[in-house]
Amino acid sequence: MLLVILTLTALGSALSQKSTTGIDKLRDDTIRRIDHLWMETAGWQMFAKKKSGLDADLVTEFKKICDDIDAFHHPELPSMVLDHMWAYGLIAEEEDNILGSYATFRKAQARPDPVIFADLWRQVANGVLHDRINRRSILKSLSIVQEMIDDGIEGHKNTFDNALKNAEDFTCDVNQSPQQMLFNLYTTFQLTQLKAYTMAHFSWMLLRIYNQGNFTVESERLKTSYLQRMSQQALAIKSVMRDSKNDLWACDPKQHVDGETFVKITKFLQGYIVNEVDLNGDNTCRENCAFYTYGKQQGCFKDQFCARQPPCRGSIVGCKFVDSDMHVCQAPHFSERRYDWIEYENGRTLGQRKQCNRAVQPVDSWWRYLFWHCSYCFCFCDDPKDGGSDRYFSLRSVTSDTAKNKVVTGMRFVKKGRIVHLQIQQGDLLPHGDINETTVEWVPVQEFDINGEGVEVGRDYHMLTWEHRALDLDDVTLPSGHILTGVKLRRIGGHLNLEIQGTQFNYTKGLLKHNGTRSQWFGNDNTDGALDQPRTMHKLKNPDAPDKSNGLNEVDSRPDTFIEFTSSDAELDVAQTAVPFIDIQPVAPKPPTALVGAGILHKGRPYSGGYVAPKLFTYNQGEHVHDHFPDLNEAEF
Ligand SMILES: *[C@@H]1O[C@H](CO)[C@@H](O)[C@H](O)[C@H]1NC(C)=O
Ligand SMILES: *[C@@H]1O[C@H](CO)[C@@H](O)[C@H](O)[C@H]1NC(C)=O
Ligand SMILES: *[C@@H]1O[C@H](CO)[C@@H](O)[C@H](O)[C@H]1NC(C)=O
Ligand SMILES: *[C@@H]1O[C@H](CO)[C@@H](O)[C@H](O)[C@H]1NC(C)=O
Repeated sequence: MLLVILTLTALGSALSQKSTTGIDKLRDDTIRRIDHLWMETAGWQMFAKKKSGLDADLVTEFKKICDDIDAFHHPELPSMVLDHMWAYGLIAEEEDNILGSYATFRKAQARPDPVIFADLWRQVANGVLHDRINRRSILKSLSIVQEMIDDGIEGHKNTFDNALKNAEDFTCDVNQSPQQMLFNLYTTFQLTQLKAYTMAHFSWMLLRIYNQGNFTVESERLKTSYLQRMSQQALAIKSVMRDSKNDLWACDPKQHVDGETFVKITKFLQGYIVNEVDLNGDNTCRENCAFYTYGKQQGCFKDQFCARQPPCRGSIVGCKFVDSDMHVCQAPHFSERRYDWIEYENGRTLGQRKQCNRAVQPVDSWWRYLFWHCSYCFCFCDDPKDGGSDRYFSLRSVTSDTAKNKVVTGMRFVKKGRIVHLQIQQGDLLPHGDINETTVEWVPVQEFDINGEGVEVGRDYHMLTWEHRALDLDDVTLPSGHILTGVKLRRIGGHLNLEIQGTQFNYTKGLLKHNGTRSQWFGNDNTDGALDQPRTMHKLKNPDAPDKSNGLNEVDSRPDTFIEFTSSDAELDVAQTAVPFIDIQPVAPKPPTALVGAGILHKGRPYSGGYVAPKLFTYNQGEHVHDHFPDLNEAEF
């Protein structure tokens, strides 16, 4: 009979409530069940005839409560974060006491022996309620923990405030946004306190059955102070979460590895040595290098150096004169580079002069008719037809399976068949913004070939060219009530630009309103041509290949900017490497959580082309934390 009453109550309360987080719901349900048990068991000590089994019944009821507490999916906060919180050492000590006692409590409940030993249980109860020689009571530990989390004194910082800095410092190591980490910390504290609360009430009920007292006053007092603390903590966490960052991206890997942690755009705007005589149709040398800002190679005069290097069949842009005569170290055959270094007669060197893998070529300009200098120019080659030039981005949208209530839980760049795609991770949405971890999977990339049938440049993919080589760096977040269900790159103002799909959902039910019309695409439409606050350029200064040297790469871009794919610095790298590189490390919070936005950023350091990388924004659970409890306060004592 007891069981039926409890189930109905739990059901009734769930319906009467507005949206609440999973941990808050567990706490409220637990407190209600304990309230009911308190009433149910009030007269038990009267029924002497059933006395032998009453404590066993009580244990059974509390076992059910504890089973539900332990079934709550609890995201562990890595010790790395906790160890750096000054208050945590003190809290942890009391937590250990509570959790140790709880473990004993659980073990005793789990005894297959139906006979309950009154002595054992009395011992448990007394340990919970009273200090012993070497151990504090659970009640005392609970009150210390609560005092440490938030002492309620104005001007004092609470533990969540203290945790915030660590949360920001360890975002990458932990794979959680600061806001997500704070909520996990709140959850951890809630569970510990709830276990203490549960054990205290069990103890009083048990001792009451054993006729050791009434304990109504104690129980009421604990409940009142507990709810006060809960309210205090809720206000504290909500305020800290409101002000904390909810973004997440991947920091530097231990080692940058081509194809594993990054991919490159290849043979794009590569430094190229070409003689003026080959840059015009009539084989003349009447101009100077700088005259040739945009053109094509027209021939190979007298099979000079031009015949000893692969020709540039596309556009030749941005030519300049460095010096007449030089020694050129060509890169090994089949390399993505053309040259490893160039040393000019005047001593200037492009790239790092070292042992050359091939024979060093002397390349000398010459005079024609005494007054025309046929100079070797240093230009850039933009040849999309070069089969070794990977410069494509998929423009196809990738969405989670909303029909099956799946949402995006992660994102990364991948390069498949010369095309850079966005790939998503998806998982089943559950109530309270949770994701079913066992369902999380990377959605296979829908590969296609740029030369495939029906595949069109501009619709299916974007091709970087001298004119169109910008990628917008943005933070795109969804309007409230939406959750991330898709991403894509589009072209706007000639730039590549991120768009994200949001789908409306019901937080309490954990269901997408997947009615087609309920999904919408969002992006930042601002362009660099806008009259009012145009998008600005994130400039790279003397960028070298980012994998050439070691050093910390940090986010250095702001949203609402753009970056242009370009060649590496001529002095440092003979302009042979396209930068920035593309970070392909996954960005996916662990544990997975609902997302409300995505973005693209740039990470770099001085003299490095850096990396463009995705970022994500996690859902703010803090919005659903309750900070007052009118339902619970109208107690049925
Ligand atoms: C316990 O104390 C409360 C409040 O003092 C009282 O109302 C109640 O009747 C007492 N119960 C028992 C069983 O003595
Ligand atoms: C999570 O997914 C697994 C596999 O589909 C399923 O068996 C399990 O019941 C799900 N859990 C929840 C809480 O929905
Ligand atoms: C979500 O679902 C619950 C339960 O069916 C309902 O009471 C609530 O109004 C819904 N919320 C929204 C925002 O639709
Ligand atoms: C679903 O979409 C259809 C067509 O857009 C609309 O007529 C219908 O009312 C929608 N249903 C709900 C429940 O929103």
